[in-house]
Amino acid sequence: MKTTSMPEKHDIKPGQSLDLLKELHILTRDGRMNQDSRRKLKQVNHLYQFIEPLLQEVQQDHSDICLVDHGAGKSYFGFILYDLFFKQHGSGGSRIIGIETRDELVEKSRALAERLKFPGMSFLKQSVAEAIDSEFLPETVDIVTALHACNTATDDAIRFALKKQAKFIVLVPCCQAEVAEVLKKNKGKALAKNTLTEIWRHPLHTRDFGSLITNVLRCLQLESQGYQVNVTELVGWEHSMKNELIIATFKDLPRRRPTERLNEIIQLLGLEEIGWRFSAANDSNNFIPQ
Ligand SMILES: C[S@@+](CC[C@H](N)C(=O)[O-])C[C@H]1O[C@@H](n2cnc3c(N)ncnc32)[C@H](O)[C@@H]1O
Repeated sequence: MKTTSMPEKHDIKPGQSLDLLKELHILTRDGRMNQDSRRKLKQVNHLYQFIEPLLQEVQQDHSDICLVDHGAGKSYFGFILYDLFFKQHGSGGSRIIGIETRDELVEKSRALAERLKFPGMSFLKQSVAEAIDSEFLPETVDIVTALHACNTATDDAIRFALKKQAKFIVLVPCCQAEVAEVLKKNKGKALAKNTLTEIWRHPLHTRDFGSLITNVLRCLQLESQGYQVNVTELVGWEHSMKNELIIATFKDLPRRRPTERLNEIIQLLGLEEIGWRFSAANDSNNFIPQ
C-alpha cells in the first residue's frame, strides 16, 4: 500500500481546486497525496509556469484562446490548466481540445468536464495524425501541446501545429524509436564512412543518440518554419526520465540556415528515408499565425 501524507503548502498552487485534484485522484478523498501523485502534480504545476505567459500573450492579441492537447491521456494537464487559467481569465469562447486514441479515457474526460462544468473543454477520440485533417478541429489554433505523447505522436503534433499555424508549440517528447531503428539498420554502411559514427555504434548509444538527435531534428524543423525554439528541463531528473521541454514560438525568423542544417544532418546520419518527418510536410512555408 502506498503511503500518503497531507499536501505541503508548495504542492498546491493558490486558487487550485482541491475538488478537481480529488476528481483527478491526485488527492485522496480525505485530501492526502502519495509520492506518485505529488510528482505528477509537481510536473503539471511546473509546466503551468511556462504556459501561463503564453496564454497571456495570446490574450493580448485576441480574447478567445484555442489550445489543442495531443495524447491527452487522462487530461490532468488540460483540467489543471482550465482550472488555473481558463476558468478565471478565459473568455466564453476559449477552449481546450484534448486528442486521445483511447476511447475510455476520452469518455472519462468528457464526463469529468461535464461534472465540473468546464464548458470550454472537449475531447476527440482520434490519433494526432488524424487530427491534422479532422473536420472537428478549427482551421487555426493558438497553442499546441504534446506531453509525453508516445513515439512519433510528437512528430505528428508538430505537423498538426504547423498546419494550424500555432503561435506556440509546447512539447515534452516521449521516447522515439524510429530514428534509432534507422541508425541501427544503416550501421554497417555508415560505420565505414565517418569516425563520428562511433557515437551510435553500441546499441545503448544507438538508442540514446537516436532519441537526442530526434529532438535536435525537431528543433531544426521548427526553426526551419520560422519559430524561435527554447529547450529546457521540465523538472529535475529525479522526478521523470523524460524531462526535455521544447517551447517553440512563431516569430517568422529566417529559415534558410536551419533548413540547410536540418538537411545536412539528415544526410550525414543516413536518415533520408525518414527525412520527411522533419520537413515542412504541410507546405506551410510562409504562414503568419493568427
Ligand atoms: C504517456 S501518456 C501521456 C498522457 C498525458 N499527456 C500526460 O502527460 O499525462 C500518452 C497518451 O498518448 C496517447 N497516444 C499515444 N499515441 C497517440 C496518437 N498517435 N494519437 C493520440 N493519442 C496517442 C496514449 O493513449 C496515452 O494516453
